[in-house]
Amino acid sequence: MPKPGYHGIMPDISHDENALMDFVGSFKSYVTSDIQSGNKEVYEKLIVPKFNKTHSRNPKDRHEVHKEMRKQNYWQFSGSLSRLYQELKQEASDINVYRQADLLAKKAKSFRSKNSKSTLELNPKLKVPKYLSAVDIHLLPGCYYTERTKDDVTAGAMYDPGVYMFALGSMGKYNEDMGEAVIRWLEKNHPDLSPDQILDMGCSVGHCTLPYAQKFPQSEITAIDIGAPVLRYAQARSESLGYRIHFKQQNAEKTKFKDESFDLIVSHILLHETSRKATYNIMKECYRLLKPGGIVVHADVPINNKKLDPFNAFTRDWSTHYNAEPFWGTLHDMDLNDPALSAGFNSKKIFIDNAPKIKDSKMPPWLVFGAIK
Ligand SMILES: C[S@@+](CC[C@H](N)C(=O)[O-])C[C@H]1O[C@@H](n2cnc3c(N)ncnc32)[C@H](O)[C@@H]1O
Repeated sequence: MPKPGYHGIMPDISHDENALMDFVGSFKSYVTSDIQSGNKEVYEKLIVPKFNKTHSRNPKDRHEVHKEMRKQNYWQFSGSLSRLYQELKQEASDINVYRQADLLAKKAKSFRSKNSKSTLELNPKLKVPKYLSAVDIHLLPGCYYTERTKDDVTAGAMYDPGVYMFALGSMGKYNEDMGEAVIRWLEKNHPDLSPDQILDMGCSVGHCTLPYAQKFPQSEITAIDIGAPVLRYAQARSESLGYRIHFKQQNAEKTKFKDESFDLIVSHILLHETSRKATYNIMKECYRLLKPGGIVVHADVPINNKKLDPFNAFTRDWSTHYNAEPFWGTLHDMDLNDPALSAGFNSKKIFIDNAPKIKDSKMPPWLVFGAIK
């Protein structure tokens, strides 16, 4: 696996930890390419003929495929290995981060001073929404917000290399692909866009925030998240790389910004980790925060948007059931026009589109949707 890009708050990785991470990467490649591919054969040779005998048709959607596939030994075997990969990936970064938690906290703090270009504003009273507190999303222990030590950054320090390992480096050296893909989409569809104020919602450690700072160096960029540990890490990472971004601990459903504060609002893989109600609330908040003529773009994982056949929709829905991302499938079943319409956007100004991946164009494109106010 290629190595991630360097930044100043990167956890130190020992020889043995590196070897474990390499193993986990190779294990994932093997499971994804050699093992998971066998499920198609099981589906076509066993499930489809059997289903046809009793129903005189093929399974109509991913739910019917799942119901049958989950009884198959091969699916159970490949699913266990995929889950094991997720657990090993997490374990590899946990071991590494826990042993240097205090050191990383101090290091992150050293990037915060009155002269810092990137700033941090925390709100310890902010309530964590239930959709984040009820599950450890994609097995991240304590999710994005748990504090383990003074000035804690552990959630960020686990999430950052964790995403890199999950994607096997395919999202770029800084896991920035989705931000770049949205920018490319904006360049194509809104070539005259020149935002003064940009808001990134659910920024986590800022993987996708940084590309906006590169593309729009004159803009004021604010990035919000629920979790203090990811925000501390994000600020230190951004500062160490020389960017000017303001990180704030706020809930995207109900922020503290004034009406009509932003020209461009973006989010990247935020919504599938929330809930139906939160998706409506966030769209409503975006409508309130946008200046007239402003644009909101939410980017998310490319899954079972209606065009996929039932088998592919089923395989891409794995995380809903087995990787603690309960809202993943539901978001993609929703009519995404609805939250935008109910927020007040004009139906003619709503879009649902795809943004091709930049680093690996052979992979399915990101889903982008949003509206112009
Ligand atoms: C998958 S991560 C996002 C990754 C990030 N956008 C990136 O590009 O790498 C989802 C993030 O959204 C945050 N989040 C979830 N619900 C939120 C909310 N209501 N308000 C603000 N942040 C939220 C989580 O704390 C988490 O850091």
